[in-house]
Amino acid sequence: MSAIEVRGLVKVYDHKVRALDGVSLDVEEGTVHALLGPNGAGKTTLIRVITTQLRPNEGSARVFGYDVVKNSSKVRELIGYVPQEVSLWSDLSGYENILIYSKIYGIPRELRSRKIEELLDFMELSEASRRLVRTYSGGMIRRLEIAIALMRSPKLLILDEPTIGLDPGARSLVWDKISEFRRENGVTVFFATHYMDEADKYADYVTLLNQGRVVAHGTPNDLKKHVKGNKVLVFFKESVDNSRLSEIVSGIPGVSISNLGNDHVELVVDDIPTKLPKILEEVFVKGYSVSEVEVREASLDEVFIKLTGRRITEESGRIKEVVSMRKMIRRGG
Ligand SMILES: Nc1ncnc2c1ncn2[C@@H]1O[C@H](COP(=O)(O)OP(=O)(O)OP(=O)(O)O)[C@@H](O)[C@H]1O
Ligand SMILES: [Mg+2]
Repeated sequence: MSAIEVRGLVKVYDHKVRALDGVSLDVEEGTVHALLGPNGAGKTTLIRVITTQLRPNEGSARVFGYDVVKNSSKVRELIGYVPQEVSLWSDLSGYENILIYSKIYGIPRELRSRKIEELLDFMELSEASRRLVRTYSGGMIRRLEIAIALMRSPKLLILDEPTIGLDPGARSLVWDKISEFRRENGVTVFFATHYMDEADKYADYVTLLNQGRVVAHGTPNDLKKHVKGNKVLVFFKESVDNSRLSEIVSGIPGVSISNLGNDHVELVVDDIPTKLPKILEEVFVKGYSVSEVEVREASLDEVFIKLTGRRITEESGRIKEVVSMRKMIRRGG
């Protein structure tokens, strides 16, 4: 079954901004699926439709078979959602925040404190739980929001820019926690990002979105085939008979020759960490002496440029704007 099935979605703001222009996609149950695109691509709009906050003008979206418009309350029960904006009360402690949400979500009184403690512990927030959220780092805020989203044991976790503006250490801790929860609970994860390395590293499938349209989708490795994939260049100490070089790759699936020189061979490789040792072993067994090996990993950004002519992170000023837009929704206080 599809966790998410989107067909021909159109969303127009103010009768003029076509934020979604006929989007279709499927998210398979149990997978991690990234929605990758530059600022303004329509990522948040798509997530808002799927999470039942916005009605589309055309098309449909289903979550585990339930229509987001006709069965919106059922859809909301199945989803844990972490929005792009901060969704906490900054003048309350972490514990108070999660307690309020546990009441909103109707977690039975007798289960509440155990559930809260478990989640805070899991997210490594127990010690900080009595401190005001306004003293938290960006990473702690994100982990608390994710803890809250996981409280009702959702079948589908949707995260809008889960690590925007975080430093690399904080980003990888957020992802470690998401991955660990997923291993233990088998939840489907759908997340929006404009960090291509994150989509590449953590997603099983990636959908590239640009100006409200799906540009391409597939596994990160499939997408990289648009730019002829990752490359490994092997340079030899002396010139080698070209016709013999094809022997190197003949027995290795997922490796092909893209260019041959007198003293080097350029290989296209689907999966560098597993194939590089095999390539080198083959080179060694065939008796070639290697002077240098160069690895050129293709990035999803290159794929995006090839398909759209623009970079995902082209407008760095805009990203700063989005980071600063990740301001608190101050509730009460
Ligand atoms: N409430 C709104 N009213 C009018 N236009 C909007 C509204 N929300 C978004 N837009 C416009 O719709 C388009 C898509 O915006 P959206 O926020 O979905 O993109 P995004 O991919 O999430 O971008 P970002 O990376 O900046 O979060 C943009 O042109 C944006 O300016
Ligand atoms: Mg957005």
